Amino acid sequence: MSMAQSRRDFLGMVFGGFAAAGGLAALYAMKRTWDPLPSVMAAGFTTVDLSPMKEGELRTVTWRGKPIFILKKPPEENCNHLPDETKKRLVKIGDSEYLVMIGLCTHLGCIPTWEPEKKIFHCACHGGEYDACGVNTFGPPPRPMDIPPFKIEGTKLVLGEEGPEYKKLVGKA
Ligand code: FES
Repeated sequence: MSMAQSRRDFLGMVFGGFAAAGGLAALYAMKRTWDPLPSVMAAGFTTVDLSPMKEGELRTVTWRGKPIFILKKPPEENCNHLPDETKKRLVKIGDSEYLVMIGLCTHLGCIPTWEPEKKIFHCACHGGEYDACGVNTFGPPPRPMDIPPFKIEGTKLVLGEEGPEYKKLVGKA
């Protein structure tokens, strides 16, 4: 093999290596482009099966990093004694009514605690209180706790999608 030929072979291997590395980099860049953004992945749905819940039970699940309160209302606590505005906050799933709301105080975002014996949500940060339907009744909270977008699938609650029940609750229907 002549000196010139082995030099050509060497240069061919070097350029081939560069081409292969460039191709891999391009594939990696394409994959990064196709992958959903972290913000999109974080915006996922959370599905909760409500069928095992007992009356009066409060469950807290996490959706998009926020606590979501789900309270299965006993029939005698169906908020009928409360004003119409409050009654609208209950969603009927099967034979039961549920309260579904973002468990963050609307004052400065602390997480209120459910006090079943008093039937209130109490915010320890500045003494705010909400009734058993999440409506602000005392202290600095300026409005009821917010309702997250959801839809109902049988006995399952799907957080993150605006179903007809949600639209009715928030007056979008
Ligand atoms: S954050 Fe709840 S009362 Fe201030």
